[in-house]
Amino acid sequence: MITVIGSLNMDLVINTAKIPRPGETVLGKSFKQIPGGKGGNQADAAAKLGADVHLIGCVGDDAMGAILKNSLKADGVDADAILVKTTAATGVAAIIVEASGDNAITVAPGANYELTAQDIEAHRSDISASTILLLQLEIPLDTVRASLNIAKSAGIKTILNPAPAAELDEEILRAIDILTPNETELEFLSGQKTKTLADIESAGNSLIQKGVGELVVTLGQNGCMHINQNGAKHYNAYKVKAIDTTAAGDSFNAALAVYLDAGKDMASAIEFALKVGAMTVTKEGAQTSLPFKYEVDDFDNWRSSQVLK
Ligand code: RIB
Repeated sequence: MITVIGSLNMDLVINTAKIPRPGETVLGKSFKQIPGGKGGNQADAAAKLGADVHLIGCVGDDAMGAILKNSLKADGVDADAILVKTTAATGVAAIIVEASGDNAITVAPGANYELTAQDIEAHRSDISASTILLLQLEIPLDTVRASLNIAKSAGIKTILNPAPAAELDEEILRAIDILTPNETELEFLSGQKTKTLADIESAGNSLIQKGVGELVVTLGQNGCMHINQNGAKHYNAYKVKAIDTTAAGDSFNAALAVYLDAGKDMASAIEFALKVGAMTVTKEGAQTSLPFKYEVDDFDNWRSSQVLK
């Protein structure tokens, strides 16, 4: 079983030709409300890929919170541990997606920041019964720390997707088995430049020196790099036509967790995650873009149909 601890947001998505610059107003083409939040997305993706997934997070006592919870349940996530807080509204994310598929996201965390270390402690036994704990950084850092400590004392594999980037102290770094930053997050966490693959390997190694087990650094259209104590290996991305990159990192993380939960090795997990990430960018939205297992099983056919278009 995979336990995901993280955020749930309602994504307020506007498609535009170009993301506006500071001070600029542009007209959008369409507006949609789509279930999102990095925690919700990662749990949803893992459930669609066939894993047994348990999500711990918070929503507000409002209509958006109810929609998010129901939508996750409908996709097969065990959502019983999603707490409804009366002290804040459900988190929202304002997302602008431009024609290239790139996006700009601002999150108002709301109830996500009400998830406390005590709330996590109340789920110690569920967390301890998992094989993998998957976390991101859209909830308070002390809650992340408490979650990692429980997982470590139960001997569970931990994956931290450090998004959005935040300072991580050595207690946290030492409790991470697999860290999955993108280049920008790796640059922030290591304080080193990440322009070339050699830079990325060196920045990743600096975090291994501080106690991280291993890293899978996501590089968008340039694939990813796996770095551990034995060295580094680069993997190419599948070339697809990106419509919307929202949640590509989330589905990649979920896919890694799903394969590792199933006992597969890291190389196979990364190959699978690259397929899932590639499929995600070809559809709009966060949870609306996450592929099901049967779709990924048909990846080769799907890919040839993409090329033909
Ligand atoms: O990773 C994508 C997610 O980031 C969006 O769904 C949005 O809610 C923000 O959390």
